[in-house]
Order: sequence, then structure tokens, then C-alpha cells
Amino acid sequence: MSARRWLGLLGVMMAHTANPAEPLSGAARLGSLLFSDPSLSASGRQSCASCHDPSNAFAAPRTAGVVMYGGPALDRPGLRTVPSLRYLDHTPRFTRHYYVSSARESADRGPTGGFMRDGRAESLRAQALLPLLDPVEMANANVTEVARRLRATAYFDELRQLYGAEKLSADDVLVEHAAETLERYQLEDPAFHPYSSRYDQFLAGKLELSAQELRGLRLFVDPAKGNCAECHPHASAAGGRAPAFTDFSFHALGVPRNPGIPANAERQFFDLGLCGPRRADLQGERNYCGFFKTPSLRNVARRRFLFHNGRATTLAEAVRFYVERDRLPQLWYPRAAGASLPYDDLPVELRGNVNSSDAPFNWRAGEPPVLDAAEVDDVVAFLQTLSDTN
Ligand code: HEC
Ligand code: HEC
Repeated sequence: MSARRWLGLLGVMMAHTANPAEPLSGAARLGSLLFSDPSLSASGRQSCASCHDPSNAFAAPRTAGVVMYGGPALDRPGLRTVPSLRYLDHTPRFTRHYYVSSARESADRGPTGGFMRDGRAESLRAQALLPLLDPVEMANANVTEVARRLRATAYFDELRQLYGAEKLSADDVLVEHAAETLERYQLEDPAFHPYSSRYDQFLAGKLELSAQELRGLRLFVDPAKGNCAECHPHASAAGGRAPAFTDFSFHALGVPRNPGIPANAERQFFDLGLCGPRRADLQGERNYCGFFKTPSLRNVARRRFLFHNGRATTLAEAVRFYVERDRLPQLWYPRAAGASLPYDDLPVELRGNVNSSDAPFNWRAGEPPVLDAAEVDDVVAFLQTLSDTN
């Protein structure tokens, strides 16, 4: 039996790739201009592309530190690592209860979907306003300031032609349409979903993976080993759509605190994801504190800082975290009075939110590690097949 069959993968991938020959709509083409226009920021020196580098899968530039700096003088640190903007196009709307039904049952997968690491933006269009107005990013004081900057651009006339001069005389309507162009650009341009990785070619039957990469894939999928595919699905979805390597679900993994995040200098400060501080509507829901969105693992080998707080800096380290979190906590968490303090990036009273039910997090004392050192290497080799060639 071929490896593809063994893993339950479709032998042939169906039409999921955007047709590169298809021209961008006028809105998407304008969106590409906005995306890399620093004149839309208070500093005059920062565009979307400054933080979402087109040559690094639209994640942070390879040379950047753990967080990016923005604001009028580019001296205000961000809170979280910059996610890649690739493969976001099938992100479902945020919901607190996502039901997955099978022939036998309907299971509640809990909070799922939405944009940003805490799901607070309901669409790419709504999302686009957040960096434009964020005081530590492009730092416009309000929509009026964004509109003023848009009117001063060389492409403003094209915006007016597209949407009608009369409509765009209102600031909020102008900015709303500008956001729409950014959404169209991200949805239409094949640069945001190239599906050019070796794994995509493997799915399409165009190449074989090495023995090590295949071992890594099996460990990634096997519920008794990595069980990674539980949250980072590896198989084509219904209709043949290529896998996004995320089910968009939220979890508290208990990733250790990263002292390299400037906000963490304040000992009382905690980035709690779904329950704040950046997201406002779920702050009372203490059972969601520490939950962050499962990211796609496509292009993960191109990232320098992994997890929302960048605590891991190599793929091997990130995979080892899954194996060692509860087995060797002294390697991951600081010690106090001789004992390690697990899950130190959550206030003590919220540490019970950390996932200990889904494999590989259900490891119990006395059991062997879910992956040994050679198996960690195999999983890393597999993750490297997920990088796009462009
Ligand atoms: C100063 C750096 C910076 C700039 C400038 C910036 N972003 Fe981001 N972007 C981030 C960070 C950091 C996050 C994660 C924020 C969070 O989860 O709270 C993010 C998240 C996103 C997301 C959500 C991704 C996901 O996985 O849900 C999208 C979409 C996005 N940015 C698009 C844009 C667009 C469009 C612009 C320009 C209008 C822009 N960004 C400007 C740093 C930046
Ligand atoms: C229960 C769901 C779940 C399982 C199972 C799971 N992950 Fe994750 N994974 C997540 C979530 C949620 C995050 C984001 C956590 C954060 O940002 O703090 C994540 C983040 C990651 C990252 C960092 C990606 C980035 O861009 O920062 C890597 C690498 C990763 N997972 C690999 C794996 C591997 C390998 C396995 C199997 C050993 C696995 N995951 C199993 C939910 C899961």
C-alpha cells in the first residue's frame, strides 16, 4: 500500500490552487498597493508589508526580533509574534461552540475561528482596521486620519474610480472600502495560497517523501504518538481542498512565559489570549484564559519565533515542548522553593485551564515519552516539507 493510501490521503488533489493566470480584480490590485504603502502609518515608515514580509510567507522578516515595533516613532513594542498571512482564506467565523458531526455523534470542539491569535476580528476586512489604528503599529489616531492619508496617495483617484467619488467623500466609507481592497488582495492573490510545498506535491502524487519525512508524517498523525493532526489536520478536506494544518480551534498549551516580550517585564501582566487584554468581549470568561488560536503549520520552518509569545526558537524545541511539558517541567519552567512552577505564563488560579486531556498532553507519570529524540527529529523533518518554494 502506498504511503498516501496508508495515511488516508486522497491520491489526487482536486482543484484547490488559485489559477495564477486569473487576473486580480481592480480592488485586489489596489489592495496590493495599500499593503506596501508606508504613507498610511503615523511614522510614515511602516506598512503591512513591514511586519508581514512577502518574501517570508507574509510573516515577520527573518531578521526581526521576537516582536515588531511600531507607533509614530517606531519605538513601541508589539505584544505577540507576527503570524503568516498565508492560508487564512478558509478561516471560519469565530464561534464559542464549533460542532463537528460524524455519523455517530456531534462533538463540540469549543471556541474556533476568527482572525488574530485571539480570534477578535470577524473578517479580513474588519481585521485591516486594527493595525491601521493600533498605537503600537501604524498608529493612526482615528478613521479621519486614515482617510486623510488615503486622499494624499497617488492611487486615490483609482479608488474613486472604482467605488465612486461621491461615496468616498465620507471618511468612514472611504476607510471601509480601503479595508475591502486589502481583503480582496489577500483572498485573490495566489501569493497568499501558493500550495507549492513538497508536501503538496506529495499529495498530488508528483514526488515521494524521504523515509524520514514519512516516518515523521506517521508520528504526526498517530493518535498514540504525536497526535498533532488532531488540531493541525494533514489531510485534504471535503471537496478535495488542500489541508490548512489548522482546525482554527483554541487551546491553552501552557507555553512558558517569554521574558523577551517587553510587556512581560511587568510581573503582574499576562497575555491571556481569548480572555484579554487585546480581546474585550470574553474577559469575564475565565475558563477561556490562556487560549490561543491553533496556527497553520505551513511555512513553520521559516519562522524564527514560535508560539504566540515566541518562546521556542527552533522547530525541534517547539516539538520537544509537546513531549516534555509535563514529563520534564524543570527544563521549561522556573523553579521556586525547589519545585518547578508549571504553566508560569498564567496566573496561578488559571493554570487549570491548560489542556491535559488531548494527546499528547494526556501523558502520565511513569509512561515513556510520546516521542523519543529520533522521533522528534522525524517530526521536524516532516514539518520542513510544509514550506512553500516561494
Ligand atoms: C507592527 C507590525 C504589524 C503591522 C504594521 C501589521 N501587522 Fe498584521 N499582525 C501583526 C501581529 C503582531 C499580529 C497578531 C496580533 C494578535 O494576534 O493580536 C497580526 C495579525 C494579522 C492578521 C491576522 C492573522 C491570523 O492568523 O488571524 C492579519 C490578517 C493581518 N495581521 C493583516 C495585516 C494588514 C492587512 C496590515 C496592514 C493594514 C497589517 N497586518 C499590519 C503585526 C503587524
Ligand atoms: C490540542 C491541540 C493541539 C495539538 C494536539 C497540537 N497542537 Fe500545535 N499548536 C496548537 C495551538 C493552540 C498552538 C498555538 C499556541 C500558542 O501560540 O501559544 C500550536 C502551535 C504549534 C507550533 C508553533 C507554530 C507557530 O507558528 O508559532 C508548532 C510548531 C506546533 N504547534 C506543532 C505541533 C506538533 C508537532 C504537534 C504534535 C506533537 C502539535 N502541534 C499538536 C494546538 C495543538
